[in-house]
Amino acid sequence: MTDSRESWSARSGFIIAAIGSAVGLGNIWRFPYVAYENGGGAFLIPYLIAIFAAGLPLLFLDYAVGHKYRKAPPTAYKKLMNSEALGWWQVMVTLLIGIYYASVLSWAGSYMFYSIGQQWGTDTEKFFFTSYLQNGEGLAFGFVPTLFIGLVIVWTVVMFILYGGVKKGVELSNKIFIPLLLILFSILVVQALRLPGAVDGLNAFFTPNWEAMANYKVWLAAFGHIFFSLSVGFGIMLTYSSYLKRKTNLTGSGLVVALANSSFEILAGIGIFAALGFMAYSAGSSVDEVVSGGIGLAFIAFPKIISSLGAGGDLFGFLFFASLTVAGVTSMVSILQVPIAAFQDKLGWSRKRAVTIIAGGSAIVSTILFSTHSAITFVDIIDYFANNIGIVGGGLLSIILVTWFRRPLLKELQQHVNQYSSIKLGWGWNFLLTIVTPLSLLVALGLTLKSIFAEGYGGYPLHILLTVGGGTVVLFIIGAVLLSRLKDHDAAEK
Ligand code: ALA
Repeated sequence: MTDSRESWSARSGFIIAAIGSAVGLGNIWRFPYVAYENGGGAFLIPYLIAIFAAGLPLLFLDYAVGHKYRKAPPTAYKKLMNSEALGWWQVMVTLLIGIYYASVLSWAGSYMFYSIGQQWGTDTEKFFFTSYLQNGEGLAFGFVPTLFIGLVIVWTVVMFILYGGVKKGVELSNKIFIPLLLILFSILVVQALRLPGAVDGLNAFFTPNWEAMANYKVWLAAFGHIFFSLSVGFGIMLTYSSYLKRKTNLTGSGLVVALANSSFEILAGIGIFAALGFMAYSAGSSVDEVVSGGIGLAFIAFPKIISSLGAGGDLFGFLFFASLTVAGVTSMVSILQVPIAAFQDKLGWSRKRAVTIIAGGSAIVSTILFSTHSAITFVDIIDYFANNIGIVGGGLLSIILVTWFRRPLLKELQQHVNQYSSIKLGWGWNFLLTIVTPLSLLVALGLTLKSIFAEGYGGYPLHILLTVGGGTVVLFIIGAVLLSRLKDHDAAEK
């Protein structure tokens, strides 16, 4: 049988695409506000521990499964251990993340243009919530045309890339966008560091607030964030590694990707906190007084900083939002690649058909939901549930099904990875993946559920949490159960 599966042109193509996937809104938009809300500098310690205890071990597991079986999650987990539903759970997570990711991406793209002439005026918070998002009370479904236009543009670009396939779409776009991102973002960070007050911002970022570390929520945030950031536990790295050639150094590639991702994330933290330091300096107050954290950090605090730079701020703003957009597009493509590949594998669909149906369908749902007055409510709640339950839950299951219930598989996967890898996986990986990673995830998941039941999330009324958050989780479950009943295309042909 000839192998018709698409492939990367070379390992470097895979590495650059994997970096493009990992480096995304998570690094520039999410990391600084999560770090800010969770003790600033104190967050770096749980963050680093989360990378070594859970992020990297799971990254290697994802690579091992994807590369060994050369399939997207449902078929790969089916072949590995007859757990197709787990794969579809991960596919559902990517679908839900994809629909809100497009929304934040469209905000970034719009703000790139609002930077020119600093169209947000003096009250950036009012501009963001009232003029741009036209945010309504509770769940409000009225139509917001500007959001609609942004979403249509984002989905058109992403679908165009996806139609190109692995080599000519995903790989090529990453080869253009990642160097571009590096250039844009480096100029931005250098500019930020030269602002007066930057050092105070950096102090706020790097000075550990030990008290925050005693709060379990800081740890939850670190573990919840790292999977999203590294694109592990929800099928992306698994799918990307399925397009690799047989003889590939998997661990070496993984370390390059993880290092690039964290370096970029910390660089983003430096850039943003330097700018916050400048903002405090201009306002004559301390860094923690000038900004309220939260999802709007990039869209409220940053425009304010840009405005205080005078006319030169336009370029600064453009660079920032262009970086956010470019980083987001490459990740968005990787998120969508998971369900597309899953349906191709399962139903034998051509790429064109899979992109049209899966990305097209997601585009319609996303455009309808996120061009309403409730866009930010949907983003916030789906992001929280998809990360802390969807990714953490799916990642945890993929680990314990192998390490607790089918231990011989762990050995097989380890041997598979070690065959061509420069750094060999040994007892350390085995130990982390069997004990440390699952236990920390189990605790994280338990505490998340406890906190949701005890105090809800984000101060939202119960009916909104139940509809949007509960609905998200119900979709993961229903999707996993129903989609795993689909017949394989080769079985159907027989
Ligand atoms: N890893 C991607 C990000 O950080 C999803 O945005």
